[in-house]
Amino acid sequence: LFGLPDQAAHERVLFATDEQTGLKTILAVHSTARGPAFGGCRFWSYGNELAALNDALRLAQGMSLKNALANLPFGGGKAVILKPAGEFDRTALFAAFGRAVASLNGAYITAEDVGTTTGDMRIVQQHTQFVSGIPRDGAFGGDPSPKTAWGVFVSIEAGVRLHLKRDTLEGVRVAVQGLGAVGWHLAEFLHKAGAKLLVADVDAAKVARAQELFGAQAVHVNEILAADVDVLAPCALGAVLNAGTVPQIRAKLVAGAANNQLATAADGDTLHGRGVLYLPDYLVNAGGIVSVAREFRNEGEESAVMAEVSQIRDRVAELLDRIRVSGNTPAREADAWARSKLVAG
Ligand code: NAI
Repeated sequence: LFGLPDQAAHERVLFATDEQTGLKTILAVHSTARGPAFGGCRFWSYGNELAALNDALRLAQGMSLKNALANLPFGGGKAVILKPAGEFDRTALFAAFGRAVASLNGAYITAEDVGTTTGDMRIVQQHTQFVSGIPRDGAFGGDPSPKTAWGVFVSIEAGVRLHLKRDTLEGVRVAVQGLGAVGWHLAEFLHKAGAKLLVADVDAAKVARAQELFGAQAVHVNEILAADVDVLAPCALGAVLNAGTVPQIRAKLVAGAANNQLATAADGDTLHGRGVLYLPDYLVNAGGIVSVAREFRNEGEESAVMAEVSQIRDRVAELLDRIRVSGNTPAREADAWARSKLVAG
């Protein structure tokens, strides 16, 4: 396990396989101090099992910090399923995954993440009650992505006001990397607020649609991080803020949905040294977990969810207050703040 992040800090890690369906899954429970570990399930083609384990451990730890900062009565966990190389039966695979979740007896609650859908979670639900993110008749729930996007949007608004000293998003140039489930909704909110969008996605059709609907400017995927913009919103995959990219970033504010954006803590220091305000991913992208957590507890309605997600705006302001006092970088301050909350509530 050399080189893996804080693996000793995880309470429990289950590697489950199912020969019949080809399931290989890793369920990582980082902390249950605040409550059962809650975090989505990623379905991904990993190069090898070590890469999958590394992803699960990093993501689970991030969920602990995210859930704590969002004041949720849940700990942090995450599951990854290694996508089988050949043909597979998706329904049977997710049924087997549901049984793996059930085997943890509620220590871990799952939901969607990259590569999984509400349909997959419906199958999981047939095998365990410890699942969320499933549409319900006459009640909020299901796909958490629009709520995640709303949380990122209000964070960008707060960052633009407090760091760029601009009252509105009118004319603010925002680069969105990845127009997936979250990035697309974010682009829509930003467009409605008058921002000028620069977008990149490996899927050319999504870029074309954003050009058409939002008047967005298309940027090559290799150039989006270095685009000449005010705000950069990474909404694709992790570790995009690294030694190679950070020196090229021209945005003054970085706030996006992607988990684990900083490759290393040192990259956060370098960004800060360059005068770039980085709003930590797990602070700004908590909207989805807020939604699935309320759905799981069957609490409130859509407006209550939105109000709770909008509180992320206040936490961004609080983070900036805190760093003024401590002199820390936002990434290190958020980490210390979240870890101080990783205790029984
Ligand atoms: P998604 O899979 O729907 O979207 C990702 C998009 O990024 C896709 O359109 C894909 O084509 C694009 N992409 C992939 N590689 C790219 C590259 N090199 N350059 C530009 N675009 C690229 O995923 P989703 O759900 O939108 O999530 C995005 C990120 O946000 C992930 O890191 C996820 O873990 C994180 N996140 C998502 C939440 C949610 O509610 N869906 C909640 C919290 C975090």
